[in-house]
Amino acid sequence: MRTWIRSLRPFDAIAVQTLIERTIDIREAERFIRLFHAENPGAGDVHARLREVAKEIARHGTYTHTFEELQFGARVAWRNSGRCIGRLYWRSLRVRDRREVTSAEGVALECVAHLREATGEGKIRPTITVFPPDTPERRGPRVLNEQLIRYAGYRMRDGSIVGDPRYVDFTERVRRLGWRGGQGGRFDVLPLVIQPGRGQRLLCNLPGDAVLEVPFTHPDYPWFADLGLRWHAVPAISGMCLEIGGLCYPCAPFNGWYMGAEIGARNLADTDRYDQLPVVAARLGLNTATDRSLWRDHALVQLNVAVLHSFEQAGVTMTDHHTEANRFLTHLGREEKAGRVCPADWSWIVPPISGGATRVFHRYYDNPTLTPAFVHHTG
Ligand code: ARG
Repeated sequence: MRTWIRSLRPFDAIAVQTLIERTIDIREAERFIRLFHAENPGAGDVHARLREVAKEIARHGTYTHTFEELQFGARVAWRNSGRCIGRLYWRSLRVRDRREVTSAEGVALECVAHLREATGEGKIRPTITVFPPDTPERRGPRVLNEQLIRYAGYRMRDGSIVGDPRYVDFTERVRRLGWRGGQGGRFDVLPLVIQPGRGQRLLCNLPGDAVLEVPFTHPDYPWFADLGLRWHAVPAISGMCLEIGGLCYPCAPFNGWYMGAEIGARNLADTDRYDQLPVVAARLGLNTATDRSLWRDHALVQLNVAVLHSFEQAGVTMTDHHTEANRFLTHLGREEKAGRVCPADWSWIVPPISGGATRVFHRYYDNPTLTPAFVHHTG
């Protein structure tokens, strides 16, 4: 192969070299096809499919998954996510195959449709939308947002931040790209930024009906509503690449439903996020002069009570960390029984409040890297 490249004119040699580098790894493809057939005995002749895939890769440097392979691959990528406590229902992931959509406008419309379908008026459905993969001759589209729904963060003149501090840089970036939408509030939904495989980036504001939000109240403290806190109902990760059988789908937004503590013990509580514990503690009249009064812990529990209570009142699916910890151990048991290792990262699986009060705390886990997988973009 090498001598052949050398014998080409330099310009062609570079083109061929790039093609080879972007050609997908046939061993990965083969491993995935074997896994698919092993777990889906009704799927037909594995050898015939392997031959077909090898031929396609030899000819085009890539191959095309059948819908069944894509669906299985996406579900197994979830099953392999060592950081996710919510994997008991991995088989129920709804897969929206949108591999034919390439334009930025098309991607934007499908992201909005994804949110509407996944939100289900509060009955949240775990869903993934898969856009075209990277191929030797063309990159797939990308959504540059970390999640489809996130709140802007604005740096004020005095250095303070209004909104979500995590997205200050991203907010500045979309403003430079021409976003005029932000009202300067604490919960302004950011626009989508879509980079198509070829052509110009597109900014797209999400229509209001695609973004269900829940304002927070507390069952015992009427003043809680005055804090003006709220959160969106659907966590939809859009900044990760779905890897199946050597193919990379760079745009494959997926969602589950929230576990209350993600919002109550992290998004609203972390000091580098909304930092609401001092505010809640002050309203509760706690002694914040000393750490030993455990004012943070009291405030955390009340904030989390409010989050779970409000989602329940609004009729929006949400789970609590005790239920989810138990479900996770059920999942682990099932995987073991099926003869599989279930990768799990202790520091992510243990909930950010009351860790030791849940059973997932009191043990260790294996955490091998398995594919199919969701991986963070490298560039
Ligand atoms: N922790 C992230 C957030 O608060 C969401 C991660 C995915 N969570 C989930 N329940 N599927 O936005």
